[in-house]
Amino acid sequence: CTELDPALSLELEKIIETISAPKKGLLACDESPASLEQRFQEIGIDNTESTRRAYREMLLSADKSQFSQYISGVILHHETIHQRTSEDVEFVEFLRRRNIIVGVKVDRGLVRLFGTEDEKTTQGLDNLQENCVRYKKEGCHFAKWRCVFSISERCPSHLAMITNANVLARFASICQSARMVPIVEPEILSNGKYGIDRALQVHEEMLSILFRALNEYHVYLEGMVLKPAMVLSGIKNAIKCTPQIVAEYTLRALRRTVPAAVPAIFFLSGGQTDEEAVLNLNAINACDNKKPWRLSFCYGRALQNMAMKIWKNNSENVDKAQAMFLKRAQLCSEASLGELQV
Ligand code: 13P
Repeated sequence: CTELDPALSLELEKIIETISAPKKGLLACDESPASLEQRFQEIGIDNTESTRRAYREMLLSADKSQFSQYISGVILHHETIHQRTSEDVEFVEFLRRRNIIVGVKVDRGLVRLFGTEDEKTTQGLDNLQENCVRYKKEGCHFAKWRCVFSISERCPSHLAMITNANVLARFASICQSARMVPIVEPEILSNGKYGIDRALQVHEEMLSILFRALNEYHVYLEGMVLKPAMVLSGIKNAIKCTPQIVAEYTLRALRRTVPAAVPAIFFLSGGQTDEEAVLNLNAINACDNKKPWRLSFCYGRALQNMAMKIWKNNSENVDKAQAMFLKRAQLCSEASLGELQV
């Protein structure tokens, strides 16, 4: 294994130090136009380039000092990278002026993994090198790639785990070569009836296969961030686990599989209510088990859901929607320290 050029490893570590600053986490607002479709439909908004731009402007222009108190970085969709605020400033530049680090989603979405029970892998490796080099020039310092796994009696299959581990590792290696920090997101979806023990088993197996691949691809572990789901029982399971149980199981899975060399783990919020995403993160950080990583949030839904519903593409609602978004961000920030007043 060849060692990374010291200037490159230092650059990656510096980016991570900034995005994992205490009390802060990441805002994921990189939903593709297709995934915004349903969310916009629910509140009766047309899903067009201009409504997506207006929505992102509402979020990103929330009060500057509060925003940067809770949020260190934002993950944008490719479309937003080239959009401008209503004052004609590119979003990337707008965020840079607010001392927010910009990241970008670089995968190109899910495709069926032939030969499996409708399991998925993620495309976008073709041209990834040149895309990453361009994004870095445009001011992005980290990049996200998401693979998904679902749990059933026979899933995730070994093929799905091996394929996605390799895809994530290849992404991470290309991303580091372009001087961006990879946010490696292996999302275990929580659709299903299974109990939390089964979720623990799947997390352990998937994460151990993933880290083996990351090592085989010589990914610089000190220069990456892991973005996993928490260990939860399936949504259709009647037993709801308390935040303390979720914290215990999640930390057990992570301790058994994620090297201490990885500096930060930022959770996703999918499969949890807004409230659960805050309470569970708080319990994880309040727990005094061994935790060699910084544990924070990289939330999409749990930060945006309520604000989006208030906004409704009406300029009169912008202040209220922004206040709601900042409130959620504040709660996540407190939870990232385990200091939520519950
Ligand atoms: P959620 O927090 O909504 O799960 O989304 C985060 C994300 O970036 C999914 O890729």
